[in-house]
Amino acid sequence: MKLTLSCIVFLVGVYFVQCTNYANVPLKSQINQVNPMIGLVFWDDVPEYYGSSFPYTALSMEYFYLPVNKLVVGRTNGVIQYNWTFIENKLTRIASRGHQAIFRPYYEYPGLPTAVPAFLKSILGYQGQVFNGEEFMDWRSPDLQAMHLDMFTKLAQRYDNDNRVAFVESGFGFWSEYHISDGPDMVLGYNFPSGDFQQKSITLITSLFKNTPVLYSIDIADIYDGQCPVFNSIKNLPFGSFDDSAFAKDSQDWNDGNKQRLGWTRYQTQPLGGEIAYEDNVQQHALDINGPEGTPLPTYVANYHYTFLIANDQVNYKYNGPLTQFQRIQQVGQTFGYKFTITSFQTNGTHTQVVVKNTGVAPAYKDMYLQVSGVQSTVSLKRLQPGNSSTVVVQVSTNAPTLKIVSPWITSKQTIQYEANL
Ligand SMILES: *[C@@H]1O[C@H](CO)[C@@H](O)[C@H](O)[C@H]1NC(C)=O
Ligand SMILES: *[C@@H]1O[C@H](CO)[C@@H](O)[C@H](O)[C@H]1NC(C)=O
Ligand SMILES: *[C@@H]1O[C@H](CO)[C@@H](O)[C@H](O)[C@H]1NC(C)=O
Repeated sequence: MKLTLSCIVFLVGVYFVQCTNYANVPLKSQINQVNPMIGLVFWDDVPEYYGSSFPYTALSMEYFYLPVNKLVVGRTNGVIQYNWTFIENKLTRIASRGHQAIFRPYYEYPGLPTAVPAFLKSILGYQGQVFNGEEFMDWRSPDLQAMHLDMFTKLAQRYDNDNRVAFVESGFGFWSEYHISDGPDMVLGYNFPSGDFQQKSITLITSLFKNTPVLYSIDIADIYDGQCPVFNSIKNLPFGSFDDSAFAKDSQDWNDGNKQRLGWTRYQTQPLGGEIAYEDNVQQHALDINGPEGTPLPTYVANYHYTFLIANDQVNYKYNGPLTQFQRIQQVGQTFGYKFTITSFQTNGTHTQVVVKNTGVAPAYKDMYLQVSGVQSTVSLKRLQPGNSSTVVVQVSTNAPTLKIVSPWITSKQTIQYEANL
């Protein structure tokens, strides 16, 4: 142990000096997993299929779509009926693999039947537009509007405090990605919700999810196609965003416009996620050392402060380097989001002082705490910004403190690893 003297000068009428004998404590720690709530994300059927050959440390989150009609199964005497089995089964399986879920309810999914709950279709006057064989939701319907709000209210009641769920995504249109491109002409209040209803819905949803961030497609900020005429009045609500055509040069300018309108510093309070664009060259070379189009994925992630990207097809490719593809998925996944490095660890026998720095590219969006020899600090590391440090003092009588990072928002199978070389 190296002894250091830290002296604090107080002015109390006269000068005097109080010295606290803080001594450095050696601390070594490495990150050998993708930490919770960051990284490359796979649909839940991929880890399910690969089993233990896809190391659970290579990812921390799994994604699934929630067809609304699997959840909303009826309405009895005006009360919406829910069947939680589909979502519960998914969350249980995902948690059993040591991961957390991101899910997104949808109504319209090109190529799949519309997930419209059967009770709506039996209401006289409910009639969604059919275009190229695809049925769109009928947003004229007050029953649909009421159901949508009730569903998100129930989802928030059940899952806002559920540590199996990392993030929730919401929206309207195809895949809930806030557009109906290649569909019929958009008619707000008919085949897409009215501006008023969008505002009502996003205001309610962002007020109900207090712990679990809700993310909307960056297309909510598309001012050219008019999906969200109320964008300026909702843009400051607390929601994160996702870019479903990330990392492709040809959509970058367009996506940048949306991201700019959402605010370049939005990541400081709300997560940015998304999906690697479905363009063959981008998919095939996404994890290559220099990337598919001259920018390595970790550089892109750092530039935009990404917390996660869905990368489902990456298991089918082989990047151009020495690691296995699964090892590469883990290596790149570790470059997302928060990363905690302990830069000082000292004790004076009654107190331990820790300096923790966020050396990642984005903050953590849920509470995390330092725990010294079993005693948890009250200082949350949530929203500690990249590049910034926090000095935390924990009162605990020991000369040989130990350190963990804990969180009520991870499951018992998960840990939050940190770096230290002291
Ligand atoms: C250790 O430092 C704390 C302030 O961080 C101080 O309150 C406490 O008295 C010190 N303990 C000793 C034994 O010096
Ligand atoms: C609830 O959903 C599950 C899974 O989707 C299904 O197997 C089951 O039959 C449903 N139960 C009812 C009562 O509809
Ligand atoms: C980083 O910390 C400094 C000092 O506390 C603070 O002024 C600054 O706003 C912080 N940066 C961010 C991005 O929060």
